Amino acid sequence: QTIYLKDYTPFGWQVADVHLTVALSPDATRVRSRIRFEPNPDAPAQRFFLHGEDLRLIRASIDGTEVTPVLTAEGLECDVPEGGFLWESEVEIAPAANTALEGLYMSNGMYCTQCEAEGFRKITYYPDRPDVMSVFTVRIEGDEPVKLSNGNPVAQGEGWAEWHDPWPKPAYLFALVAGELLNHPGSFTTMSGREVELNIYVRPGDEGKCAFGMQALKDSMRWDEEVYGREYDLDIFNIVAVDDFNMGAMENKGLNVFNSSCVLASPETSTDANFERIEAIIAHEYFHNWTGNRITCRDWFQLCLKEGLTVFRDSQFTSDMRSAEVKRISDVIDLRARQFPEDQGPLSHPVRPESFQEINNFYTATVYEKGAEVIGMLRRLVGAEAYGKALDLYFERHDGQACTIEDWLKVFEDSTGRDLTQFKRWYSQSGTPHLKVSDDYTDGTYTLTFTQETPPTPGQPEKAPQVLPIAVGLLNPNGDEVVPTTMLEMTEATQSFTFEGLNAKPVPSILRGFSAPVVLMRESTAEEKSFLLAHDTDAFNRWEASRDLARACLLAMITEGAGPDLAWIDALEQVLRDTTLDPAFRALMLALPTQAELAQMLHARGVTPDPDAIYAATETLRDAMATRWSALLPELMAEAQVDAPYAPDAEQSGKRTLGNAVLSLQTRLDGGKAAQAQYDAADNMTMQLSALSCLITAGAEDAALAAFEAQWKDDRLVMDKWFALQVAATAPEKAVARAAALTERADFDWKNPNRFRAVMGSLAMNHAGFHARDGSGYRFLADWLIKLDEKNPQTTARMCSVFQTWKRYDADRQALMKAALERIAARPGLSRDVTEMVTRLLG
Ligand code: ARG
Ligand code: ZN
Repeated sequence: QTIYLKDYTPFGWQVADVHLTVALSPDATRVRSRIRFEPNPDAPAQRFFLHGEDLRLIRASIDGTEVTPVLTAEGLECDVPEGGFLWESEVEIAPAANTALEGLYMSNGMYCTQCEAEGFRKITYYPDRPDVMSVFTVRIEGDEPVKLSNGNPVAQGEGWAEWHDPWPKPAYLFALVAGELLNHPGSFTTMSGREVELNIYVRPGDEGKCAFGMQALKDSMRWDEEVYGREYDLDIFNIVAVDDFNMGAMENKGLNVFNSSCVLASPETSTDANFERIEAIIAHEYFHNWTGNRITCRDWFQLCLKEGLTVFRDSQFTSDMRSAEVKRISDVIDLRARQFPEDQGPLSHPVRPESFQEINNFYTATVYEKGAEVIGMLRRLVGAEAYGKALDLYFERHDGQACTIEDWLKVFEDSTGRDLTQFKRWYSQSGTPHLKVSDDYTDGTYTLTFTQETPPTPGQPEKAPQVLPIAVGLLNPNGDEVVPTTMLEMTEATQSFTFEGLNAKPVPSILRGFSAPVVLMRESTAEEKSFLLAHDTDAFNRWEASRDLARACLLAMITEGAGPDLAWIDALEQVLRDTTLDPAFRALMLALPTQAELAQMLHARGVTPDPDAIYAATETLRDAMATRWSALLPELMAEAQVDAPYAPDAEQSGKRTLGNAVLSLQTRLDGGKAAQAQYDAADNMTMQLSALSCLITAGAEDAALAAFEAQWKDDRLVMDKWFALQVAATAPEKAVARAAALTERADFDWKNPNRFRAVMGSLAMNHAGFHARDGSGYRFLADWLIKLDEKNPQTTARMCSVFQTWKRYDADRQALMKAALERIAARPGLSRDVTEMVTRLLG
């Protein structure tokens, strides 16, 4: 059954307040609700309906009189009096049997909830939709020493605790946690001088991994005050780490719940990348307090209203905390790796989708990351100052409301006077625009002519031109910048822009900072790319020039049997030797395009990608880089050495990233000698894990793998890395067998999403391994998806997207992938989540 944006109707009632009493028990938790409904003057007449799923109704009453509602699979219907009334009900649920990890469930003996998007209906009967906002009071009954819910604690006694959240909120922001937990405490004084108690709650044993998250939380709170003028609004802010969690984390009001992998950190157990990600996710969830909670979404089609904006805000935060240039390049790498394939395949959908069957399937890179790009473009178009004013107006005008994209854009129109009618296409038109460029130089005038075209996507055969902010700079032939970054605003299908008064034909640097999420199709010479690599003032485009050269080199190797491009390797050496450049930036220059990205490029050029050939070319190029740089590598290694005690900051982690990129090349020359030495000496996970990765690529990993396991067998999060790395870094011909062997282990707890993803997600990342010619990768994954769907539809459905590129490959592989998808589709009792995914994938 499909839900459409155009069918939106307000709920017929408002909820004045909600009182919940939750009496905890693993198999028979009782939830009593007392809800005061008032008629909604803005809604059409309708029959009273409350959502409810997998609930056992014990009793229900209206104004104290028992009623017998009509129960359906989705909820209940009931006759109700005109005017307001008090609804009371009692239901029974079984959290211990809840393996879907949605609603109230148990993880390692602790109770926790996940309600976004539609999980509250698995806790009690309620209008479970984001436009119904109310004030919640929650009483938790149980022996667990820690019992938490949203808002402020109001009272507690032997076996019970009561919480009150004064801020009206939709049910998806409800949370409850109870268990034997320890807290890592902290405090924060807000800009108006209010003391806020902070806590990170963890299972005993994890209390040593909270300090970094606590600092990240304080940094986030301060940043949101300083940059957005947003102050925290409760007396307490709690974070809880949960081992079994479908996603990264959840912004429940005053009680953020995190996948433990996204909050727990220590130098011994977490990599630099983990630290950075944890800092960003803590910020993301905290920032939701204003962009998501105080101002929420009217309906789930508006998901990007809170997610695009909050991702944009957390990327600004990371840019401020670390290197803005490195963050931008990393975000674009991620966008191209995850959002572009989605936008250019069978799962393509607009940033604001117009229909869905299961909303959980739309927590996508398009809604999140492209949604953030759209905000970034808006800011580029209106300027930083006008953006700030618009945001102020947004918070002032819409605080306490459930809003739409129309509300959001209206704020910008009203505060800047701009007409955003055409810009709004970014929310409704799916697909990635292709941007072509030609240029002309005559008598001191330089003209750039752009043509934009978006290929058709499912359900959208025709595309209209988008508003594209195109940041351009011009360099003169001796390498000086003659026109600094200028924001061109393209609105037509084809449009020219001129620059006057130049004394020579300039070299253009186009789409600086990746100013719009498009595919730039500009055929430029290797000389021009090398020139930009050497001279561009824009870090992103400098990196892009190098990346383009690497792509061109790899494509020539794959399609023409060419050898590695030694000129590019030598040009890159100059960049790597430039010690004025941030080591993190140099590490990014050193990384090659992924094999999946190369497959995507070949496909875009009308060439059927052969995963084995792509793998071979990448290996050959890496070998050539290592050989050519045999003198450079030890020098870089020495430069990347960190002598200070470990800190996960930008400076140190940049050095380690560079050093470890170099180590992986060095391993090609010494068979793993340096890697083994680094492994033996490592006192932090970044150094230990990258050494292990090199040893696996070199096929010299047996001793280190065993040592690693012996050292970390009791640490779930570290063992996830151990599982993942073996599958991701192993040679393609061994990948499926290795994944299969790992699933035989007693500690392959496949119902735990982190562990399942460690093996299955990594297999999908091993491009040539997953796409093994015999189809063994596809079959293996399909078997496991079928198995997991019975327990956890949401995680299964997300994993189905690894098949989204299936139509790019050769006929044999296509047939094998199609067969795998059809086998999943044919499964009796398949979940709604997975049914929707495979249907869309099969097109
Ligand atoms: N709102 C959360 C975040 O972005 C994600 C929760 C998604 N949950 C889900 N079941 N789809 O931080
Ligand atoms: Zn979010």
